[in-house]
Amino acid sequence: MGAPKTVLLTIAALGLAGAAAGALVVYGGLYNVAATVQHTQPVYSLLETAMHQSVKLRARNIETPKLDDELLVMRGAACFRDKCVQCHGAPGVAQGDIGKSMQPLPGPLVDARHHWKPRELYWLTKHGIKMSGMPAWEYRLSEEELWSVVAFLARLPDLTPQQYAEATRFDATGAQGASTGSACGAAPDGASVRVGDADRGKRALHQYACSACHTIPGVTSSSPHVGPPLAGIGGAPSLPESWPTRPTTWCAGCGIQKRSIR
Ligand code: HEC
Ligand code: HEC
Repeated sequence: MGAPKTVLLTIAALGLAGAAAGALVVYGGLYNVAATVQHTQPVYSLLETAMHQSVKLRARNIETPKLDDELLVMRGAACFRDKCVQCHGAPGVAQGDIGKSMQPLPGPLVDARHHWKPRELYWLTKHGIKMSGMPAWEYRLSEEELWSVVAFLARLPDLTPQQYAEATRFDATGAQGASTGSACGAAPDGASVRVGDADRGKRALHQYACSACHTIPGVTSSSPHVGPPLAGIGGAPSLPESWPTRPTTWCAGCGIQKRSIR
C-alpha cells in the first residue's frame, strides 16, 4: 500500500472516530448544560475567542458618532441603570440574583472600554450575544439611546459609587429620579421603521417573542404549539374559518382579539 493511501485512510479513520465521539457527547447527553457547573477552561476560552472575533468582524464598518456630549452621557446613565445593572452591576451596586446566577457570568462593565471599541460596544448592546443570556436591545432602545449607553460605558470606569449614584438620579428625559419611572426605551424609533422590510419583520417576530408560542416559517424555534402556527398570516386578510375555536379569544403575546381579525 502506498504512503499517500495510508495517510488518506488514517485521516478518514480519525474523522470517523471524531464524528463518533461527537455523536456520543451530543446524543449521550454527556455535556453538562447546568448553569451551576462552569465550562472547562478550554471550552470557555474557545467560546470567548469566537465571540470576540465575531463582534470585531461585524462591527468593523460602523461609524461612531460624537460621544462626549454631557447630555448623551446622562441619558446613557439612566438607560444603564434601567436595562443593564440587574445583570452587570455598577460602582457600588451589586448585580441582581439573575445576573449572579448566569453562565457565562455577566462581568462588571467597568473595564469594557479597554476590551472593546465604542462601535463594538454599540454592536454588542444592539444585537446581544447568542447562547449567553446577553439580550439584544435593538427593538427596545432607539439608535440614540444605544449610543448613549456606549457614551456612558466610556465614562463608567472613572465613576466612584457616589458619582454613579448622582449620575443615575435622573431619568432618560433629564427629569428627576427613578421614582418617576424612566423614559428610556419608551420612545419608538420611527427613523428605523421601514415599511415592507420583510427581513426586519422576521427579526421582529423573534424579538417580540412571537416565536416562543407560534411556529413561524423561516423563524428558527422549538416549533411550539402554544398558539396556532402563523404560516400564511401575512397574505391572509382574514383567517381560515376552519380554525378551531379555543376557549381563549386573545393572543397571549400581542393581545390581538381573534374575532376582530377574522
Ligand atoms: C439578563 C442579563 C443581562 C442584561 C440585562 C444585560 N446583559 Fe450584557 N451580558 C450578559 C451576559 C450573560 C453576557 C455574556 C458574558 C460573557 O460572554 O462572558 C453579557 C455581555 C455583555 C457585553 C460583553 C462584555 C464582555 O466583555 O464580555 C457587553 C458590552 C454588555 N453585555 C453590555 C450590556 C449593556 C450595555 C446592557 C444594558 C443595555 C446589558 N449588557 C444588559 C447579560 C446581560
Ligand atoms: C405566550 C404565548 C404567545 C405569544 C408570545 C404570542 N402569541 Fe399569538 N397567540 C397565542 C395564542 C394562545 C393564540 C390563540 C388565541 C385563540 O385561539 O383564541 C394566539 C393567536 C395569535 C393570532 C391569531 C391566530 C388565530 O388564528 O387565532 C395571531 C395573528 C398572533 N397570535 C400573532 C402573534 C404575534 C405577531 C406575536 C408576537 C408579537 C404573538 N402572537 C405572540 C399565544 C401567543
